[in-house]
Amino acid sequence: MFSVHGLTKRFPDGTEALSGVDLEIREKECLVVAGSNGSGKTLLMRMLVGLAKPSSGTVLYRGMDVAAYGALVRRSVGLVFQDADAQVVGETVEEDIAFGPNNLKLGARETARRVAEAIAATGLEAKRAAPPRRLSGGEKRRLAVAGVLAMGCGAVIMDEPFANLDWPGVVQVLATVRDLKAAGKTVVVLSHELEKVLALADRLVILDRGRIRDDGTPEAVLGRGVASYGIRDPRQSYERVEDCSWLS
Ligand SMILES: Nc1ncnc2c1ncn2[C@@H]1O[C@H](COP(=O)(O)OP(=O)(O)OP(=O)(O)O)[C@@H](O)[C@H]1O
Ligand SMILES: [Mg+2]
Repeated sequence: MFSVHGLTKRFPDGTEALSGVDLEIREKECLVVAGSNGSGKTLLMRMLVGLAKPSSGTVLYRGMDVAAYGALVRRSVGLVFQDADAQVVGETVEEDIAFGPNNLKLGARETARRVAEAIAATGLEAKRAAPPRRLSGGEKRRLAVAGVLAMGCGAVIMDEPFANLDWPGVVQVLATVRDLKAAGKTVVVLSHELEKVLALADRLVILDRGRIRDDGTPEAVLGRGVASYGIRDPRQSYERVEDCSWLS
């Protein structure tokens, strides 16, 4: 679905935020890209859909160069941004969710059906008439997910979708990922919180200081070790309260 070759991003201040990234993202897979703060996850997401310009390298989406066809690509690839505020477009939750389907000119009936479905899937029923700016951080994230669901995209990329969410919120996002997978969508989750999502991943890619360091099944990658990339191996269980600390 995506073919990334030699993707490099150098900023004017000399920072090389992505260095020669090669990545194939296959149709219908659930890919988790893990990397610590500053590893380049958000930049990679923006480049996948043509929102940021590479210094060198190419991204193809179904054979189309996203540098030329970014706007078209963004109609079929849904994005959930790390900063949920950046994504708000409507005066109310319902309007906000309807924005995508309206843009796709789906008609009033189909739009209303999709909005209702997306609201139910994200548990936003009580907020349907609320102004998005008054939602909590977690509710805004759910709103972003609802907007993407209503677009009916073939692929969804989520940047740190669990940040700021409470337990029911995390469960809801995970249920969404599971449902998207079941519906045959391609799902890319960029996150360092492996313990929340790894069970749903078909594949795990490790991004570290702008480079891809590992790529394989979650079992294989964790087996080779991820701690040196600033990622915590989630295969730990705590039996006693005294053990429930990330310090252990
Ligand atoms: N305009 C810029 N000029 C210089 N460096 C930049 C610029 N924008 C981003 N960077 C750098 O690029 C690197 C990658 O940033 P990015 O936002 O992709 O990281 P991330 O993996 O999403 O981190 P986080 O987990 O904190 O969200 C960082 O080191 C960041 O400081
Ligand atoms: Mg980020």
